[in-house]
Amino acid sequence: MKITILTLFPDMFLPFIGESIIKRAIDNNIVTVELVDIRDYSLEKHRHVDDTPYGGGAGMVLKVDILKRCLDANRRPNSKVLLMTPQGKQYNQKMAEDYSKLDDIVIMCGHYEGFDERILKYVDEEVSIGDYVLTGGEIAAMAVADSIIRLLKGATRDESHEDDSFSTGLLEYPQFTRPYEFLGDKVPDVLVNGNHELIRKYRLYESLKKTYLRRKDLLDKMELTKEMQEMLSQIKREND
Ligand code: ADE
Repeated sequence: MKITILTLFPDMFLPFIGESIIKRAIDNNIVTVELVDIRDYSLEKHRHVDDTPYGGGAGMVLKVDILKRCLDANRRPNSKVLLMTPQGKQYNQKMAEDYSKLDDIVIMCGHYEGFDERILKYVDEEVSIGDYVLTGGEIAAMAVADSIIRLLKGATRDESHEDDSFSTGLLEYPQFTRPYEFLGDKVPDVLVNGNHELIRKYRLYESLKKTYLRRKDLLDKMELTKEMQEMLSQIKREND
């Protein structure tokens, strides 16, 4: 997969691509991350990329001609072009899974007050990572790229993402490692006894419980198996 990031601040991505799972995925040719400085596509003196908004008001607006020139020079016919903006579709794990199946993604990051609206015609999707406003799209682009890259085959040692929070539709069950006892808190017995069916049931129950207590909205969207429905009834009896 190739991910191309169009940004005014390419250096912000250097720690992101230089550490841990992302670095390893790049080193192993699982993904190529290309950083493109939008400023390189300014034809103006002093490499300006923005201007004051028509109609007045505070802040500066990124110029559509520069953004389009940058996009045209760095997209390929099969690229999926994402524009990071708080006005976009709210990003989620399903989108990460869908994007991880693509060969070529271009992510455009804005900064300052925003983009000239006319750039929207040339992008495939506007994406937001949440209902809050960042100083620019860079951190949002890293969140999106990170969530995609970890799903690529060979990127992590654990190839199975079936139990990830949200992949199942539920929050993930709790995990424990040594020591067995910490300041009086012990690891649940079921995890120590080695009965795989009981462990499966325990984890499903705890996933459901956490999701019920923290994110009821996720449960509303799910089709529950009979086993899950029975567990959920018990969880409701014990927690309501
Ligand atoms: N740019 C600024 N805020 C953002 C957000 N919440 N999501 C995506 N891009 C952004």
